[in-house]
Amino acid sequence: MWTVSGSTHVPDLAGELAGKLCARAGGKLSKAFFASSGSEGVEATIKFARAAHTRRNGIIAADHAFHGLTCGALSLMSDDFWREGFGPLLPETKTVPFGSRHALERQLKEKKFAAFIVEPVQSEAGVRVPDADYLRGAESLCRRYGTLFVLDEEQTGMYRTGNFWPAYHFGVEPDMVILAKALSGGLCP
Ligand SMILES: Cc1ncc(COP(=O)(O)O)c(C=O)c1O
Repeated sequence: MWTVSGSTHVPDLAGELAGKLCARAGGKLSKAFFASSGSEGVEATIKFARAAHTRRNGIIAADHAFHGLTCGALSLMSDDFWREGFGPLLPETKTVPFGSRHALERQLKEKKFAAFIVEPVQSEAGVRVPDADYLRGAESLCRRYGTLFVLDEEQTGMYRTGNFWPAYHFGVEPDMVILAKALSGGLCP
């Protein structure tokens, strides 16, 4: 079996792919970071958000979300089915009801959260499509309280809802987007 570390240099093809992804992504997205699973993508956004916000460690997410089974990603999931037996998980993480701007604002007001990470359409929770103005409202709350707005598009991205990603449908401009399985046709994370 071979193991290959891609971290010692940037392969040309990775650079080319990054360029193509950013061109399709549009908005303010201009950089790509490659990892080896969706969960690792979520871990990376947690680290980037904390690094960008030196005085905030909090990460907030929506209840019933699925973000992956590594410890950081699991900390953003509310369901005991996934969490039981693995605590204590990451401190300063919180979930609020998916679809409620009110609940989100109550938390964001405290200005403790570096990022809000949310699936535009929840998938493992049973395909929950939010109201048309939920994500726009959540984005503007994030801007108001200085929290990064991050979309987990692992199930929804790569044209699976029609557009490159549903951020377009909902008229939002995320600060970071996590993309995974669909990028390789589901063959590898
Ligand atoms: C929305 C979402 N985020 C994150 C993940 C985690 O990805 P992975 O299983 O590649 O670690 C998944 C996996 O299904 C997912 O659906």
